Amino acid sequence: MAQETPIEELDAIARGVDEAFAAARDDNELRQVTARFSGREGSLTRVMKRIPELPGAERKSFGQRVNEVKGRVERALATAAERLRSEARAKELAGPAIDITLPGRRPRLGRVHPIMRTLHEIIDVFSSLGFDVAEGPEVDHAENNFDRLGFPPDHPAMDMHDSFFLPSRTPSDRVLLRTHTSTVQVREMLSHPPPVQVVMPGAVFRRDDDATHSPMFFQLEGLMVDEDITLAHLRGVLEAFLHRLFGANVKTRFRASYFPFVEPGAEMDVECLICHGHNPACRVCKGTSWLEILGCGMVHPVVFESVGYDPERYKGFAFGMGIDRLTMLRYGIGDIRHLFENDVRFLGSL
Ligand code: DAH
Repeated sequence: MAQETPIEELDAIARGVDEAFAAARDDNELRQVTARFSGREGSLTRVMKRIPELPGAERKSFGQRVNEVKGRVERALATAAERLRSEARAKELAGPAIDITLPGRRPRLGRVHPIMRTLHEIIDVFSSLGFDVAEGPEVDHAENNFDRLGFPPDHPAMDMHDSFFLPSRTPSDRVLLRTHTSTVQVREMLSHPPPVQVVMPGAVFRRDDDATHSPMFFQLEGLMVDEDITLAHLRGVLEAFLHRLFGANVKTRFRASYFPFVEPGAEMDVECLICHGHNPACRVCKGTSWLEILGCGMVHPVVFESVGYDPERYKGFAFGMGIDRLTMLRYGIGDIRHLFENDVRFLGSL
């Protein structure tokens, strides 16, 4: 049998194009069919190589015909691709409907930490009583933490504030992690003339660590100064506050106490809401049925002097409460460390 001429071979290729593309059933087959014609080993590539077999005069028109067939391959490819797309779409529309009623998976949302929730509620109560809110730095000068608050150097009251001191630039400038938010009282009075009525929340730091003490905890300081403030205002504000937070029936008591920056000074206790005095082994109140939640008193004249307020003209009260303690009381938590371990199963249960 005589060998096919290049022209016969090209004609045969051209006749097969439409049928080959019409038979492709998916994109992958489409790629294979295309390669069979125009790929590096494809039939059109192969037939091009036979050009030297032709007489010189026919070569140009042969090349043109090969290009025409290539164009035909491209058109057939486009038609087949379009056919596959509409087939797929028709199949999707004819198939079972997607059930869009299946509920989605909700991402787990975090929530506000119980200490911060308590703090926000406390601030809401004081705002409604007319108090502003101020903040101060966690690292402060010992002067603001002790001296201006009337702690004489080496006074035993400072033992309770055995503190985290930090390196400072000069030996006379002692710098520490504040041991209480009372530093912010000083800063507020240094920067504002009376009257002031402000609460000051924040983290404080002490070398303490047991079931009811953590080395970092939160306090809220309060300060009210004007010309005619009395102990009755102090007691009225604190009782109004505790009744709003714990309910009107909660029992509270005032006990005389000592803080260098107030005179007279007192502590306020709330009945133990964990055991209500019924458990002599209660870890929270240690069987006393009371929980100390704040220190308070009438601002000492030496403090007014240290911040430039006239102690003859102005009177004021101050208080400092432990937010963590109040949180433990509200949620019935027996160990303060639960609040800082950040076990989400525990925090989520509150
Ligand atoms: N700063 C005290 C402490 O951390 C608490 C305190 C007591 C604050 C009496 C006051 C106050 O403002 O008047 O233990």
